[in-house]
Amino acid sequence: MKIAISGKGGVGKTMLVALLSKTFADSGYSVLAIDADPDANLAATLGFPEAENITPISEMKELIEERTGVQPGKTAPFFKLNPKVDDIPEKYSREHDGIKLMIMGRMKRGGSGCYCPENALLQALVTHLLLTRNEVVILDMEAGIEHLGRATARAVDKLIVVVEPWRRAVETAYRIYQLAQDIGLHNVAIVGNKIRSQPEKEFLISSLPGFEFLGFIPYDQALVNADLANLPILDASQQIISEVRNIYHALLATGQTPSKIN
Ligand SMILES: Nc1ncnc2c1ncn2[C@@H]1O[C@H](COP(=O)(O)OP(=O)(O)OP(=O)(O)O)[C@@H](O)[C@H]1O
Ligand SMILES: [Mg+2]
Repeated sequence: MKIAISGKGGVGKTMLVALLSKTFADSGYSVLAIDADPDANLAATLGFPEAENITPISEMKELIEERTGVQPGKTAPFFKLNPKVDDIPEKYSREHDGIKLMIMGRMKRGGSGCYCPENALLQALVTHLLLTRNEVVILDMEAGIEHLGRATARAVDKLIVVVEPWRRAVETAYRIYQLAQDIGLHNVAIVGNKIRSQPEKEFLISSLPGFEFLGFIPYDQALVNADLANLPILDASQQIISEVRNIYHALLATGQTPSKIN
């Protein structure tokens, strides 16, 4: 199962990616978590040691040049659009507590897709990871998903948009939905996060008619306190863990999953 998670800044994407990864891993699945957010912090959230020292793929200049034939930052008339990537996951992913992690780093932006070697490599890599890996792949993304590209989008089984119960987050959810439609990604579902009351839950349901809701995660001060105290947030809140488990079951009920490893 290939899951991409998007949403407005700060809504709780990384928290959900980390907890879902842990839930799948604890249930016996092989899990690859991908941090595709330019402000990567998934490694730290997953408790990887020395998280801040992991070099993102987009900054591996020699690798990019070796695979695309062009130095990053240089524009060249020709470079390999289909660079070899199949050995990269084994060589450059890290593993901690049964979860494999790859940090993609910053994609270059520009017009209708920037033809630079970093992007060529990252796109080929993400597409490879989504299309060929027989494991649960969970992608932590920023709100802009247009750079995913059609080939990659086709491989995503579910795009989860995380939404907080306020208008701007709902507007962003609609924008993400539109971007998803544009690249042919039709399996979109919503997770409500930081829900403090029944009216907040109802606000989301009535603001997003026709959408599939996978779950509603309560607001829990325990998570904020853990974050402030620089403690691991993964096991800070039992009620959040339990709701993410429900989301996991909802995902299993709708999609295809690879076989378990144990
Ligand atoms: N259900 C919740 N209850 C309380 N706090 C939460 C909840 N979900 C997330 N948070 C807190 O909100 C903050 C933002 O969460 P997180 O980093 O997961 O969001 P994000 O969408 O990945 O943000 P960014 O856009 O910066 O990557 C964190 O401090 C996190 O601990
Ligand atoms: Mg994040």
